[in-house]
Amino acid sequence: MNICVVGTGYVGLVTGTCLAEIGHCVICVDNDKQKIQTLNTGKMPIFEPDLEKLVHQNRKRGNLSFSEDLGQGARKSEVIFICVGTPPLENGEADLSPVEKVTREIAVAADSYKLVVEKSTVPVQTGEYIYRTLQIYCREENGRFDVASNPEFLREGSAVADFFHPDRIVIGVNNRQTEAILHQIYQPILERGFSCPVHSSCSSFPKPYFLVTDIKSAELIKHASNSFLAAKISFINAIAEICEKVGADVQKVAEGMGLDPRIGKEFLKAGLGFGGFCFPKDLQAFVRIAEKVGYDFTLMKEVERINKARIDVAVEKLRKKLWVLREKTIAFLGLAFKPQTDDLRFAPAIGLIRRLRQEGCNIRAFDPQAMEKAVIEIPEIFYGANPYEVAAGAEALVLATEWPEFLDLDWLKMHRAMARPFILDGRNFLNRPLLMEVGFEYEGMGR
Ligand SMILES: NC(=O)c1ccc[n+]([C@@H]2O[C@H](COP(=O)([O-])OP(=O)(O)OC[C@H]3O[C@@H](n4cnc5c(N)ncnc54)[C@H](O)[C@@H]3O)[C@@H](O)[C@H]2O)c1
Repeated sequence: MNICVVGTGYVGLVTGTCLAEIGHCVICVDNDKQKIQTLNTGKMPIFEPDLEKLVHQNRKRGNLSFSEDLGQGARKSEVIFICVGTPPLENGEADLSPVEKVTREIAVAADSYKLVVEKSTVPVQTGEYIYRTLQIYCREENGRFDVASNPEFLREGSAVADFFHPDRIVIGVNNRQTEAILHQIYQPILERGFSCPVHSSCSSFPKPYFLVTDIKSAELIKHASNSFLAAKISFINAIAEICEKVGADVQKVAEGMGLDPRIGKEFLKAGLGFGGFCFPKDLQAFVRIAEKVGYDFTLMKEVERINKARIDVAVEKLRKKLWVLREKTIAFLGLAFKPQTDDLRFAPAIGLIRRLRQEGCNIRAFDPQAMEKAVIEIPEIFYGANPYEVAAGAEALVLATEWPEFLDLDWLKMHRAMARPFILDGRNFLNRPLLMEVGFEYEGMGR
């Protein structure tokens, strides 16, 4: 099928590339000229495991191309996926201006039937606005439209694998034709009719569930899912606070809770809290959506408050240990909001660094993938070429992102490099007994 994907960010680039990989002919469109130029010269604008290889492969095969021209992309395609950003406005609502702009452009360009699929995370009822906008701005007699919601659940860091092996594919539609088109697009995934480019054997993955709903329910599934997961993280962080007060270990509490299949062990990790381009903004947007329809979502407001307070907790732990923060040198291991990505959006490390800078601390930082973006985001700190360089002369070391390679550092060398061997393990990730044996003062979160 001929497909246009609008927005070549973390979601759009993965979606477009993987749709090409399963046999569709895909044009990825973005209004960021530099991004398109980068992609057209064979380079990658983001880091995402397994993605680069697939982009090269499918460009070579001729079924994946990149363009700035949305009009052309839309005219050549029967199905158009909207994957543009929906960043938060000052008041927490999602900024839908990119979605609206793209919708208008599709309407103006359309010269035949188009199925417009919203994949960006949008407030419930956005589908209705998209449909109305398409009708209003359509100039060609032959322009006919359907709109569908197809929320995206991929996780940065394993987005490609998630595309090929999702738990579920949710589509919100209002007629059988739209359902049939989307089923056809995803058929290779639903029936495992493709050779997986990520795993040598996929037999252990169950086939995904194809859930068909109305458009509004599909839109709500995305916000409700992200809010629920965020609530799980804030819940265990609240438990971490209690653990510290009574001298219990949140890791053990989480383990005991997670063994109950009704609870599950995922997302019960106490630490610096959640970040990234989804949970913080989607939570705020959901609170605002609820407010608009007359429901005061206090539960989610508290989830957000607990999450923001994790940065205060970390600052106070450092203050307690170092006494005076002014002019102290603090080293950071990890900047990205989670491992296996270079995404710094709403990363707790960035929030914590900004707070410590306000306190007068000197910051040294290292991240295996996010340094290029970090230099632009926070130019005023020192970036080391490796963990040993950032540890040099530091009075505290904060583990902010659980990159697996940090487990294998030469901790004796790290210890020798630091002015004061104190570690704040912001993710309860490092090997505490080993670090203590080496001579570190170790502080975790909730233990
Ligand atoms: N990042 C994730 O893990 C994730 C997961 C699920 C859902 N989502 C949702 O998917 C959407 C996209 O997220 P992302 O992380 O890919 O964002 P992103 O910022 O990485 O990518 C968005 C892209 O859209 C482009 N764009 C903006 N306006 C445009 C326009 N008018 N025409 C063409 N291109 C335009 C931008 O240049 C950018 O490249 C958001 O709604 C997000 O909430 C993200």
